[in-house]
Amino acid sequence: MQHILAVESSCDETAASVMCYDGTFNVKSNIIASQIDIHKVYGGVVPEIASRKHIECISQVVEQAVDKAGVSLKDIDAVAVTYAPGLVGALLVGVNYAKSLAYALKKPLVAVHHIEAHIAANYIESPRLKPPFICLVASGGHCTIALAKSYTEYTALARTRDDAPGEAFDKIAKALDLGYPGGPAIEQAAKKGDSAAFKFPQVTFNDSFDFSFSGVKTAVINTLHKYRQKNEQIPISDIAASFQYAVCEVLSKRLCECAQHFDIKNIALAGGVASNSLLRQMIEDGAKAEGLNFYCPKPLHCTDNAAMTAIRGFYDHLLKRYAGNDLNAVATREIGTLI
Ligand code: KG4
Ligand code: ZN
Repeated sequence: MQHILAVESSCDETAASVMCYDGTFNVKSNIIASQIDIHKVYGGVVPEIASRKHIECISQVVEQAVDKAGVSLKDIDAVAVTYAPGLVGALLVGVNYAKSLAYALKKPLVAVHHIEAHIAANYIESPRLKPPFICLVASGGHCTIALAKSYTEYTALARTRDDAPGEAFDKIAKALDLGYPGGPAIEQAAKKGDSAAFKFPQVTFNDSFDFSFSGVKTAVINTLHKYRQKNEQIPISDIAASFQYAVCEVLSKRLCECAQHFDIKNIALAGGVASNSLLRQMIEDGAKAEGLNFYCPKPLHCTDNAAMTAIRGFYDHLLKRYAGNDLNAVATREIGTLI
């Protein structure tokens, strides 16, 4: 039996998890200290505050993860940590903590790519899912269609050319005064709205499966300006529903088209935006229509957590692919790049 302790601090969640492997994976603990209430006041994540909060609570979060797992630190076989991509000041807190812990415990250190961890979250609930498959990772900072060639090898097939979908959800929610984080707020407001009330743009490219969300963002903001200029009441729910529809439709269509193009039968979804029920439903429907198998983690494993870091890290641990004690944090790094 093997135990891996993972630490995640790439954005505004300080998270730690203990994962046990005895032929199958078992999440023994998955502790998440969210900073949402702190950043809410500013309408988005303030990087320096995020770093400071990680510093304050990382020790307690790791202690809780170890206690809840019912293990002691000497039972840990490897320490995994998110090293890229993300807010560099936030990443540094987790990286430095994990390095010190691995050094003190005399255990190996595994460096985990955050986007690959989001993809690996699918293995937690779906051990049947095996590479090769393609996965759409849609989050606050990223939008990638990745090909999982094996449990440790990933390549990006498409990416956003500007904003990430979660970022668009957050900006539009702010413009509609719906609060932060925008995804759940827009999803809630959209429940009472008509998704056909407005036709917002869905940008695609002929030469790739890339995405672009700056156009839909601008179109929604322009619509709001027109209502405000005329002093007319803004149909918040209709705008939220139409915006959500435009983003989810382009994401789900592109994922299914990409699977057909590369002749891949298994598709998966990951990242914070993957918690969106319309997106999950649209991809499920698209997959059914095209005869594809669709996998998606439960919402708790879609938004940032360390269980996904543990499971991704575990596959490198099995291959004894370890990081040196000179590991650094990296703000921007494409998936599949070796450290
Ligand atoms: O993966 P994540 O927790 O952090 C990043 O790595 O970025 O994703 C956070 C993003 C935020 O932009 C948030 O608004 C979005 O995921 N999100 C959602 C939903 N829940 C969270 N977007 C749409 N619908 C949701 N239900
Ligand atoms: Zn994330």
